[in-house]
Amino acid sequence: MGSKAGRAHGPFAAELERLLARRGMSWRKFADLAGYTPGWLSKIKNGTPPSVDFARRCDELLEARGTLLALVGSTVPRPAELPAAVAGFVGRRGHLDQLDALLAKLHRPGASRIAVIEGAPGVGKTALALRWAHDVSHRFPDGQLFVDLGGFSHDHSPATPEDVLEELLLGLGSPVDVGLLDLTRRAALLRSMLADREVLLVLDNAADSDQVQPLLPGSGCCFVVVTSRRSLPALAVRTHGERLDLGRLSDAEGEELLREALGTARLAADPSAPAALAELVRRCGHLPLALRIAAEHLITDPLLSVGDLVRHLAEEDNRLNVLALDDQVAVRTVFSWSYRRLDVEERRVLRMISTLGHTEITAAAVGVLAGLEHERAQQVLYSLVVAHMLEHLGGDRYRLHELLALFAAERAEHEDDRAHLAAAVPASNDDPPWTIDSEGWPGP
Ligand SMILES: Nc1ncnc2c1ncn2[C@@H]1O[C@H](COP(=O)(O)OP(=O)(O)OP(=O)(O)O)[C@@H](O)[C@H]1O
Ligand SMILES: [Mg+2]
Repeated sequence: MGSKAGRAHGPFAAELERLLARRGMSWRKFADLAGYTPGWLSKIKNGTPPSVDFARRCDELLEARGTLLALVGSTVPRPAELPAAVAGFVGRRGHLDQLDALLAKLHRPGASRIAVIEGAPGVGKTALALRWAHDVSHRFPDGQLFVDLGGFSHDHSPATPEDVLEELLLGLGSPVDVGLLDLTRRAALLRSMLADREVLLVLDNAADSDQVQPLLPGSGCCFVVVTSRRSLPALAVRTHGERLDLGRLSDAEGEELLREALGTARLAADPSAPAALAELVRRCGHLPLALRIAAEHLITDPLLSVGDLVRHLAEEDNRLNVLALDDQVAVRTVFSWSYRRLDVEERRVLRMISTLGHTEITAAAVGVLAGLEHERAQQVLYSLVVAHMLEHLGGDRYRLHELLALFAAERAEHEDDRAHLAAAVPASNDDPPWTIDSEGWPGP
């Protein structure tokens, strides 16, 4: 048997070969040990499906803890784990096209097989991932897997890769007691089970690159969509993945979202709607989550007009209270999950920016106001951009989204020494030091 010649075909043979290589054992030697002919093993190596008995025997001899048994074809179901797509999905045509283009190139050598959708809290990352995944699910005949990595959520820390692997392996029908396997073995088993299969994986709400890395398939036939509130450049570089930066909706998309959510009858019954809809989009900061919550208020209370809601939202002190349905479905709560993940200095700078009364800032100004070296100020702002809590406008200019500014101002109110803040603000000055001039430097 050409034990050296040719690669093993199929997930079972590939895993068997890996286990043999780890023990430094040739296929021929294993044939002797197992009591099979070299010719039979050669067939297995070339992709002949093994029987359950054969897989069990190999498993025992190589102490593989059931991982080989798990790869016997008949035990593998076809997962269909995608949660429902968002009803009334609007816009994002450019991003959907970008994802379609990646899929079209999937089978080309060197093609990108991972898309990373990044963006601010509540901007619509999961909605986009699910919308596209449903649109293309027929292209993945071996199934679709979905898992919430819990990167940012209310009551628990991010899921460990070990736990996620267990979930994914169960989804693929692994009969192995995955609990007995360490991280490396779980990741190897996942790659084996996905080898030569066409599966779509949606890894939603990732905390960071390290959490995602062990979950990735090795074969060329699977496609992975990751969503995260953090930028994951390291993941994109390591995996040749493509990053999609998801911004807020345009004016037109925002209005379309509201129209879709409210329906023509509700809008026709509200004379204030035609004039007030555009203003409602602005008050919601073009953020899909805020727009959905606003729409829900209007649906729940038929006597509330769009104009009334716009007036409620005009009161800045009250805006985050209005943009809440309950403790969990609330812009404030969702922002707080990201805020908690910032380090002390990043939080302090975010709060400080929010107290300036305008949302644009430079690293130079932050350095002066926060008492940080210029380089350190740049690092902190960069970290806030990576966390999508701040936008980089290019050069040394940054912007804090207005709803995040309101959130951070509330945090400042709770956390900062008000007297200290007041002392930092000159009593009367038309051009205070935290304004920025045309060069992006603090004023005189
Ligand atoms: N393009 C869209 N069309 C219609 N509704 C949308 C769209 N994008 C998002 N939404 C709605 O906005 C809300 C927030 O969207 P989603 O949960 O996808 O945001 P996210 O970016 O994944 O948030 P998080 O950072 O918390 O994970 C949801 O109710 C979703 O249905
Ligand atoms: Mg999400």
